[in-house]
Amino acid sequence: MSSIKISGLNKYYGALHVLRSLDLTIGAGEGVVLLGANGCGKSTLMKCLNGLERPQSGTISIDDKDVTSAKGKQLRSIRRDVGVVFQQFNLVENLSVFQNVLYGAMGQRPGGLLTVWNSLAPNTTREKAMHCLERVRMADKAGYRCRDLSGGQQQRVAIARMLMQNPKVILADEPVASLDPKAGREVMDLLWEVVTEHKMTVFCSLHQLDLAKNYADRIVGMKAGRIVLDTQQVNADNESLAELYQGDTRVDSASNGYGLPGVGTGMQEEPA
Ligand SMILES: Nc1ncnc2c1ncn2[C@@H]1O[C@H](COP(=O)(O)OP(=O)(O)O)[C@@H](O)[C@H]1O
Ligand SMILES: [Mg+2]
Repeated sequence: MSSIKISGLNKYYGALHVLRSLDLTIGAGEGVVLLGANGCGKSTLMKCLNGLERPQSGTISIDDKDVTSAKGKQLRSIRRDVGVVFQQFNLVENLSVFQNVLYGAMGQRPGGLLTVWNSLAPNTTREKAMHCLERVRMADKAGYRCRDLSGGQQQRVAIARMLMQNPKVILADEPVASLDPKAGREVMDLLWEVVTEHKMTVFCSLHQLDLAKNYADRIVGMKAGRIVLDTQQVNADNESLAELYQGDTRVDSASNGYGLPGVGTGMQEEPA
């Protein structure tokens, strides 16, 4: 059984061909790191996997459920099994650590019912939230507002929120890109410990080679919208990894078939 199966995936933003015929299968319980330079399409791929963006062609299934055609109730049901961790944490900064973790049990985005939920949440749910906070060593900060925490602490809270949801598959999009190297390693250690404990499947984008080598079972490399490398971590050689960052790495560079770099995409990232 495969946890994630992508086939013939193409995604365009206007004229910009971002994901270029991707095929990828990730088995249940595998820990796969996605490497690639800025602008090669990693986040777009993650968003397609989560149903936040629709590809123009191709299919994606998660646990044999078709993400690309799912809508409404079906899509929400798939998303309940998919935990996400973002570069920018995506916590509600004004709410407490504890409240943010309770959200994980709601299986949806925070809404108007939040305060009601917070006071009505069953004891078992509240206990589970505390347990998740203990797991990430943040129980002593349960009452803190998220905006008063360091980046590394916020990402640990985001991991607790993800655990609360009890997902089978984790998508992490550059979860340590906003952290200093020490906090980044702590967060990666913790993330990998919890996914291993719970036998979750993890697909995690990074742009640090050294981290990829420390944690991944398997490394998938993207360059300019294509998968150009797929290897067991132990077989990954420095040369082919370094190659991911050389030459035309971005999908929006002229030589990658995009006529006017930076025009018409609506947004630009800083070059690597
Ligand atoms: N919503 C969007 N609208 C238009 N272009 C986008 C959008 N999101 C990303 N892009 C473009 O798609 C390309 C790939 O971006 P992205 O997937 O964010 O790459 P990465 O995560 O590898 O840095 C970039 O050229 C970026 O400007
Ligand atoms: Mg990105």
